[in-house]
Amino acid sequence: MQITNMEKFHKHIKRVIISEDEIKTAVARTGEILSMEYKDKPLLLVSILKGAYIFLADLSRAVTIPHEIGFMAAKSYFEGTESSGNVEITMDLAQDVSKYHVVIVEDIIDTGRTLKKVMEYIESKGPLSLKVLTLLDKPDRRLVKLQSDYSLFTIPDYFVIGYGLDYGEYYRNLPCIAEFGEEV
Ligand code: IMP
Ligand code: MG
Repeated sequence: MQITNMEKFHKHIKRVIISEDEIKTAVARTGEILSMEYKDKPLLLVSILKGAYIFLADLSRAVTIPHEIGFMAAKSYFEGTESSGNVEITMDLAQDVSKYHVVIVEDIIDTGRTLKKVMEYIESKGPLSLKVLTLLDKPDRRLVKLQSDYSLFTIPDYFVIGYGLDYGEYYRNLPCIAEFGEEV
């Protein structure tokens, strides 16, 4: 990346709200919990692309029991930092979920619309069980009734970037979670 682009890049980072170390500690702890809870059970961690790809990669390595991973893609139509409410499943799982205890691994629950759609879809395929795990939860923004089974961090109504989360497809590679700030 060129220096000029890099300068612009950092202008959008208002402040760090969750550090790399805080994420590491929480992910390690969550890995331990899952390893205990799903011991001797066929576990499938399902990530919804793209936002949860980094979280899933770290979480999967923090889980010490055998498990599989799977990917789905859902598109929530975005205008800037606001989702429009239309959610479409654009990529299905390869696995037959009826053979697994499924844990959906999400980056963030905002309005809850994406997750609700994905949950209903997986539920309709008859998994052995279904739970939801999210890195971030923004409960103030919820528009549909929905609660996660595990949430690592609850945050206020900020638009955040980093650790997989994007603004316009950028900033996913930040190692921490930062509040996004418009350029002045
Ligand atoms: P929903 O509103 O709960 O359906 O959220 C849908 C998707 O919007 C999430 O999975 C994220 O990919 C994205 N999203 C929601 N809030 C944020 C945010 O603060 N930063 C970056 N992406 C977000
Ligand atoms: Mg996104």
